[in-house]
Amino acid sequence: MSRKITEKVTWVGKIDWELKKFHGNELSTHRGSSYNSYLIRDKKTVLIDTVWKPFADEFVRNLKKEIDLNEIDYIVINHGEIDHSGALVELMREIPDTPIYCTANAVKSLKGHYHHDWNFVEVKTGDTLDIGESKLIFIEARMLHWPDSMFTYMTGENILFSNDAFGQHYASEQLFNDQVKQDELYYEAMKYYANILTPFSGFVTKKIKEVMDMGLPIDIICTSHGIIWRDNPLQIVNKYLEWADNYQENQITIIYDTMWNGTRRMAEAIAEGIRSSDDAVVVKLYNASKYDKNDIITEVFKSKAVLVGSPTINRGISFSISGILEMIKGLGFKNKKAAAFGAYGWSGEGVKVINEELKDAGFEVIDDGLRALWNPDEQALQQCGEFGQRFVRSL
Ligand code: FEO
Repeated sequence: MSRKITEKVTWVGKIDWELKKFHGNELSTHRGSSYNSYLIRDKKTVLIDTVWKPFADEFVRNLKKEIDLNEIDYIVINHGEIDHSGALVELMREIPDTPIYCTANAVKSLKGHYHHDWNFVEVKTGDTLDIGESKLIFIEARMLHWPDSMFTYMTGENILFSNDAFGQHYASEQLFNDQVKQDELYYEAMKYYANILTPFSGFVTKKIKEVMDMGLPIDIICTSHGIIWRDNPLQIVNKYLEWADNYQENQITIIYDTMWNGTRRMAEAIAEGIRSSDDAVVVKLYNASKYDKNDIITEVFKSKAVLVGSPTINRGISFSISGILEMIKGLGFKNKKAAAFGAYGWSGEGVKVINEELKDAGFEVIDDGLRALWNPDEQALQQCGEFGQRFVRSL
């Protein structure tokens, strides 16, 4: 059901408590999500974004309770991905001639998804739309996170409709940032940034600077997922600037997989070595075959260094380590150090393979790595401890 954001702006989205996976199986969403759509009533009536396709019927049905659809003068689609544009087919069946304001790239993505030649109005940064007392200002936000993304700013109410940027996959019956648990909110915001926006950090910094230079006062940031930032909304903007600047905490993350516990015992001995040498550094261990991959990525995002371990399997590495290294490579982390380790029984190529993958992913590999034959004995575990000490000292 709808919720008032301000006198002129009403939330008409969908809270999806059931969502556990997003983008197919690419992203875990333990706390669900929401697809935020907004109805602006000024002299003109504007709908900003819609909801994900499975909720299209429900969305249009609810919207009809809120307003006669024929009263909608304009639709703004800030981004063509189907979690925001997914109700357009249903909606445009009812109001087929309504102009859809979006970027030129969004025309491509919307046509690509839906194969309809709707009444598109292409907009660029600085273009405006008078809607009565307020004005909408469009700001292209290329690569935040798609080439078609844009922000829409509403004067008078001083609202930035930021679409995916500043969002979180976080279902909450409370819509505003001051109403939810801050640790949950910030974990989800960081996970979102780490898993989706990391590759575009350069664009993030530039775009935020550009928006700040426009001198637009921002009282509320209406995201397209999760809660709305109304209490000190610039806090998340400043966080994004921090996260975009090769963010790291005093943390080392050890990611491993294990067949017969040899590599796990190595991981634990390495962690003990690190702790004995530097007990201020946070050390975390994750078995990649058991732990959620996107939560591991969030830990990598926070880390100044990672250690990656796998047993040698068929002259290569385990499926789960291969997968997480592929994700890490795609995200393009910068300014992080790394080393590899692993147990082996016969040929022992695992460490070499991980080293290559880490270098390919842009990590500075600061050690040749450590192998242990069969299940590590006391001497091998002592070497693991020393390896951990050496690693942390060389950071
Ligand atoms: Fe929330 Fe890029 O869609």
